Amino acid sequence: MTTEHRDFLAIPDFSADELNVLFALAESMRTGAYRKTPLAGQTLAMIFMKASTRTRVSFEVGTYQLGGHALFLSPRDVQLGRGEPISDTAKVLSRYVNGIMIRTFAHDDVEALARDASIPVINGLTDLLHPCQVLADLLTVRQQLGSIAGKKVAWIGDGNNMANSWINAAFVLGFDLSLACPVGYDPDAGMLERARTRANVTVVRDPREAARGADVVTTDVWASMGQEAEQAAREKAFHGFCVDSSLMSLAAKRAIFLHCLPAHRGEEVTADVIDGPQSRVWDEAENRLHIQKAIMATLMGGEAL
Ligand code: CP
Ligand code: NVA
Repeated sequence: MTTEHRDFLAIPDFSADELNVLFALAESMRTGAYRKTPLAGQTLAMIFMKASTRTRVSFEVGTYQLGGHALFLSPRDVQLGRGEPISDTAKVLSRYVNGIMIRTFAHDDVEALARDASIPVINGLTDLLHPCQVLADLLTVRQQLGSIAGKKVAWIGDGNNMANSWINAAFVLGFDLSLACPVGYDPDAGMLERARTRANVTVVRDPREAARGADVVTTDVWASMGQEAEQAAREKAFHGFCVDSSLMSLAAKRAIFLHCLPAHRGEEVTADVIDGPQSRVWDEAENRLHIQKAIMATLMGGEAL
């Protein structure tokens, strides 16, 4: 239980060099070359205020593989769900466990948790950001296409937590990013402005403009968790934003398709694309495990960054 610690709330919490260390470490975990158990005797508390398949399972399995133990805490079971303040939760958990992973709604809550915790806090998704997922996506790009440097990424759809994390990644790593979003569904303006100081990041209205020549085409659901009531309005607003084979045909020949999952086939992506030869979504999902192990091994387990 150290007060000297680092959190991972957003991709710019790491420098480009540190991200490259994480990718290399994740890769050594994927191949099995890494055999250490730096979390032996440690516990990760996992707070989930929203549903999850990949994040929950990959963090729990990853902690176990590194020698530690993970606790699944849902709002039904913990007092946070009955209104206990996040800062009290942070202080109490810091007395029991060695790290906290949290998935919740307001990003401010994760920042408050990190402020009041004396142990590392990892962002497992907020309404604003999904940084672990985009690091897994970047690891997938490295495995499939080599370095991300000089590549063009096309984001098609909602300017949501995934889009914002891609923008943050472009800010740190400097690749080209073109986001096609309908009017009214733009990504975070401040993050966009910051990224543009270092990278070529554009927001366009025509998905074809974004996809043209892209090395990576990626999308996400039109209604994120917490936006279920907007589903019908969003289906209307996102008409024409489905990633289908004709959109993929505008991308580079070797382009890959990514989706963080869960996916709605026939809405944001057609089945022939997500289940087709250019899709790398299963590797992408697997990479959650490897990159999160690398994050925990460094933030909690003493591996050098
Ligand atoms: N991609 C992702 O975070 O999936 P889950 O919602 O299943 O965790
Ligand atoms: N944008 C989606 C991502 C799910 C992993 C959501 O927030 O629901």
